[in-house]
Amino acid sequence: MNYDFDRIINRNGTNSYKWDYVKRDGAVVPWDETDSGRHEKPVLPLWVADMDFPCPQPVVDAVTDIARLGVYGYAFPPPSYYDSVVRWMKRRHGWTVDPDTICFTPGIVPALHMLVSAYTNPGDKVLVQPPVYYPFFNAIENLQTVPALNPLTYRDGRYYMDFDDLAVKCADPDVKLAILCSPHNPVGRVWSADELRRFGRICMDNDVLVVSDEIHCDLILGDRTFTAYATLGEEYEERSIICTSPSKTFNLAALQASNMMIPDPGLRETFQSTVRNAGLFTLNPFGIAAVQAAYDHGEEWLDQLLAYLEGNFRFLDSFFRERLPGIPVIETEGTYLVWVDFTSLGLDKDALQRLMMEEARVFLDEGYIFGREGEGFERINIACPRSILAEALERIEGAVKGIMS
Ligand SMILES: Cc1ncc(COP(=O)(O)O)c(C=O)c1O
Repeated sequence: MNYDFDRIINRNGTNSYKWDYVKRDGAVVPWDETDSGRHEKPVLPLWVADMDFPCPQPVVDAVTDIARLGVYGYAFPPPSYYDSVVRWMKRRHGWTVDPDTICFTPGIVPALHMLVSAYTNPGDKVLVQPPVYYPFFNAIENLQTVPALNPLTYRDGRYYMDFDDLAVKCADPDVKLAILCSPHNPVGRVWSADELRRFGRICMDNDVLVVSDEIHCDLILGDRTFTAYATLGEEYEERSIICTSPSKTFNLAALQASNMMIPDPGLRETFQSTVRNAGLFTLNPFGIAAVQAAYDHGEEWLDQLLAYLEGNFRFLDSFFRERLPGIPVIETEGTYLVWVDFTSLGLDKDALQRLMMEEARVFLDEGYIFGREGEGFERINIACPRSILAEALERIEGAVKGIMS
């Protein structure tokens, strides 16, 4: 079947976090209360990481079947749920997952909170590599632990891990956990096996447990390959927790289903007891059905999606090169989130945010929310029909040229 990713779907008025809400002063509020100009020139939202595409038809069918049943009682993942996850990881990533190691959770962000709670005590430190997905900081701070920062290095338009600094940070005995973002949101790096091995070696040598958030693992652009952390070797697998979910890949975030792989039995039991203590014991029936349908029947859609995203990235990249050449675009190797360097404009974070929101009238994720290292950057979500992306880019061009003239 051919999917039409150019089709525009009106998500306004659907309680969409992306389209119907806005973040103001840290709070999420409905658009209408804050944006009097909305109906004259609606702001285009290219911020939070969901896609403006419907998911694969087999997923829509599976979810519709359950909706039609009209009985929405408790549901529990059947053995075939785990088989679907295992088959997907083997087929797409060459990773052999033991189904007994899989712990389901209603999303990775809740799981990260429970992981920090399970393996640290208040006052411990948790290592992260900014600029990085900001809910990592929320999980750390909400659990009264302290972020240990190992910032990525930005060199010649590409991001790298700073292993010397990592070794120094991990040598601090208070650092108990390291959260790896692989692929890395927001800078779009797909870490090589060598980089992951070096990262893992340093963590293991210092007895720092690795949590590898691999939610973007299926969204790899071009001919690059993703290395699942657990495939680096038994030692790596046993000293890590891998966070997976089909929710970014297939646009299922609202169905709240994710899977943590925890091969070590002791670590697994500690996590499961934290999950139990949070009163969580099931998933919703839509999530269960969607995970299975996506992993079992979503591959054809995914291959078409990846080609479309690659096209969107090339379109954006050429646009900046030709029309705004002073603003470098960081090559997106994985994810659908493009990291763009606006530092040459010399604006502080509030002025840059105003430029995007009020002049360009595009809602992007501001770089600074991913850590101080992200100041002056913008994250653009390109998982939308190309015509929306084109409109957003023209608006950005107009606003930037407006302050340059
Ligand atoms: C690295 C990363 N982890 C987790 C999430 C969200 O996971 P969930 O919706 O399952 O809580 C995102 C969403 O953008 C993400 O980028």
